[in-house]
Amino acid sequence: MTPNPDTDEARTSPEQRLLDTVLASFDRTPDERLRTVLTTLVRHLHAVVRETRLTEAEWQHAIAFLTRTGQASDDRRQEFILLSDVLGVSMQTVVVNDDATGGATEATVLGPFFVADAPAVQLGGDIAAGAPGEPCWVEGRITGTDGRPLAGARVEVWEADDDGFYDVQYADGRTAARARLETDTDGHYRFWALTPTPYPIPADGPVGDLLAATGRTPMRAPHLHFRVGHPEARTLTTHAFVAGDGLAVDSVFGLRDSLVVDFARAPRDAPTPDGRIVDSPTWTRARFDIVLTSNVT
Ligand code: BEZ
Ligand code: FE
Repeated sequence: MTPNPDTDEARTSPEQRLLDTVLASFDRTPDERLRTVLTTLVRHLHAVVRETRLTEAEWQHAIAFLTRTGQASDDRRQEFILLSDVLGVSMQTVVVNDDATGGATEATVLGPFFVADAPAVQLGGDIAAGAPGEPCWVEGRITGTDGRPLAGARVEVWEADDDGFYDVQYADGRTAARARLETDTDGHYRFWALTPTPYPIPADGPVGDLLAATGRTPMRAPHLHFRVGHPEARTLTTHAFVAGDGLAVDSVFGLRDSLVVDFARAPRDAPTPDGRIVDSPTWTRARFDIVLTSNVT
């Protein structure tokens, strides 16, 4: 019987043969993990081309987009990480590696605005350093999954100001709304900060174009970043998200229900936890206890 050139098999078999040849070209990769990741990547990339019947013009368009993404990246801006963020790949990598078992606090994305060695602030101090926003008292306790309080844990916190900017986006290079603290002998921490508000991720580059072309918002759900470490536990990167209306969308898919915290609002004249006189019509307070995965000994 003459083969019918219009059958699926006749059309796809050269495609499948090509894929098989490409996969086989990795057979002698000495690093087995590298071979696994690359061949899986190739299989999925070929599937995209075949399932969408991608045109050559579309592939050129994609390559031009990736080229612009590279060109938009420098020491201060990493557009590829932003791309990974808005495609949910950063968060999927967090989820795959986060076995928050035994009651450990869940992890979420680090984001591009972390700065190592932020200024040390005493417990109860103000991390805002003049950044604009509503004052917010944040406190909590750090324990291990074994139930022990973690004294001397390193608590790094950072957030956007009320205008939606991190200090690293300021033109004058000053440090604000970020700090490093140490828990007391009972694992407690406390500090003044700013009530987190929704803000857009940088959207003036190719990733912003992608969001616009797909009708997506650049907004992040309001959050305060934490990175917490202790020699006896696994370091955790997470956020405290503000309960309320701002949680409907998160452009980088970092929101996890377990991380939503009540930031209770109080009027200026309500007594503050440390007696501070607040220079603002309102202030908020939040409690965020964190459980780190204890080192297995
Ligand atoms: C952030 O939360 O700071 C962030 C995370 C991902 C992309 C951009 C910003
Ligand atoms: Fe953030």
